[in-house]
Amino acid sequence: MCGIIGYIGSKMAAPLLLEGLQALEYRGYDSAGAALLQSGRLDIVRRAGRVENLKTPLNELAQGACVGIAHTRWATHGAPTEHNAHPHRSADARWAVVHNGIIENADALRDRLVADGVAFASETDTEVIPQLLARAEGAPLEALRQTLAQLAGSWALGILCAHAPDALFAACQSSPLLIGAAQDGMYLASDAAAFGDDVFALYRLNDGEMAVLRADSVAFYDSEGAPVRKEAAPFSRRAHGSDKGMYTHYMRKEIDEQPDAVRRTLAQFFSDAGALRLPALLPSSPRRVFLIACGSAYHACVTAKYVIEELAAVPCEAWVASEFRYAMPLIGKGDVAVFVSQSGETADTLAALRLATVHGAHTVGIVNVPDSAIARACALVLPTLAGAEIAVATTKAYSAQLAVLYALAAHWAQAGGQECTDFLDELRRLPEKISAALTSEARAKAVAQEIHKEEHAYFIGRGVDYATALEGSLKLKEISYLHSEAYPAGELKHGTISLIAPGTPVIALACTARLLPKTAANIREVTARGARVFALTGAGADQNTLDAEQIIAVPTAHPLLMPSLSVIPLQLLAYHVAALRGCDIDKPKNLAKSVTVE
Ligand code: F6R
Repeated sequence: MCGIIGYIGSKMAAPLLLEGLQALEYRGYDSAGAALLQSGRLDIVRRAGRVENLKTPLNELAQGACVGIAHTRWATHGAPTEHNAHPHRSADARWAVVHNGIIENADALRDRLVADGVAFASETDTEVIPQLLARAEGAPLEALRQTLAQLAGSWALGILCAHAPDALFAACQSSPLLIGAAQDGMYLASDAAAFGDDVFALYRLNDGEMAVLRADSVAFYDSEGAPVRKEAAPFSRRAHGSDKGMYTHYMRKEIDEQPDAVRRTLAQFFSDAGALRLPALLPSSPRRVFLIACGSAYHACVTAKYVIEELAAVPCEAWVASEFRYAMPLIGKGDVAVFVSQSGETADTLAALRLATVHGAHTVGIVNVPDSAIARACALVLPTLAGAEIAVATTKAYSAQLAVLYALAAHWAQAGGQECTDFLDELRRLPEKISAALTSEARAKAVAQEIHKEEHAYFIGRGVDYATALEGSLKLKEISYLHSEAYPAGELKHGTISLIAPGTPVIALACTARLLPKTAANIREVTARGARVFALTGAGADQNTLDAEQIIAVPTAHPLLMPSLSVIPLQLLAYHVAALRGCDIDKPKNLAKSVTVE
């Protein structure tokens, strides 16, 4: 959500901080700020809005400082204003802090500090940290240790102290924080995307740890202040490539990358002879499967519930992670709990994973970021190999998640003696079919022209088409701000049909041949009330059968694999509607790429 970048070395800090912030901006972009430390003086500059707004004031402030921290914020406590932007400083101007995460006991700490006469300058939970640091005793590291011991919640922290001009302090608890070693200095970042080109080695802070970065060294400490030894992992910025190339938006580029993302992902699970091979650690006959995630990743889970139950005859439940974690789920030994997450850092998914682990379920992660918290906490990881996804709205990671879930379904089908030869044959050909689905762009664009001025749209479908309708609807509303809802096609008449008026756009998914007559009947229910229907079909139906104004044809495949194909025109539709409405496609308002708060 928020992003942290810090630098200490022999180069000018300001341009490196700006570059880092720009690379992190996809994670949160309500406001941004930086602190520079030079000759024992801390200078802070902050601006509401985009990182762009910080550029000129930060450059003006720079004047040769080689130590700095910076932050891009996604507001949780307090409005996204300049005075709530990070860094926050202590009342005595000695400490400056950038923070990702949430301090859960901030209110109690603030009350205590205010009662002691401390004046606060923001509404944030973060500000208690510099204020506590200023009141702690001893050398800076000891002050940090004392402060952390009073906090509850989650934090990744970058800290400067005016009395320690040659050091940058860091600490982490349930929020990722990385240290990058470069030829000319040390970087601190919440995401490797922010590192400079010259970073060659990487360290990850573990929960409870602190670090002291200096221009040519880094030292690690546990929560008691005892030194910790850590091995660096090699790092190359190029491997994290995040170049937009010839595309105007990352989202459009990532849509095109889907055949490759799915090809790479599936290749892990097929032998050279074409046999399906999943890791031996995967239980072959689970009692039940729980699929748990948030947002689009949850929609992949809803799809997989249909697929696993139909193909493998294993009982399966799909859960939104924020619901699962506070429900009393009947999960335990013999059950497999699958956690699906692009970032691998989603707070609710991580909490649900911890709960499932405590209940004794076998945990499996489907994760795009290999070294993420969810990947590290699962008993087994089946990676999605989508590559770095920069656009806030997921596309290629979603497609890669579906690919892994299909492989899982086929694995359990084979293990249970269920026939799935056709499914597997078609699964191997899925990347080519996704390429073919990309040719639907002209049709998707034509539909976008028709609907982009509307205020509401509805998506309907049955079975896996309903799961894809959920994803198509989310994609449209999150990036174009055109309100949309997805419904099981047969459910609309139980209330929502009262919202259908002459001209209301309905995007109908009719890609499941066996359900075609049923979906066609539901389409007639809405056209009878004046709706304009735009239908997606791979089932060979025409405009008349579907009573649709326009048809977007999707390549045909095994019915359970159709979601991977029908989602493509829906992504393109959302993209073109957002473009026609002049939206900021890669950074939709109020959203963040990695949702590290509950
Ligand atoms: C929507 C989108 C989000 C994420 C959700 C989970 O386009 O990207 O709904 O799917 O926030 O994020 P991850 O997959 O990182 O756990």
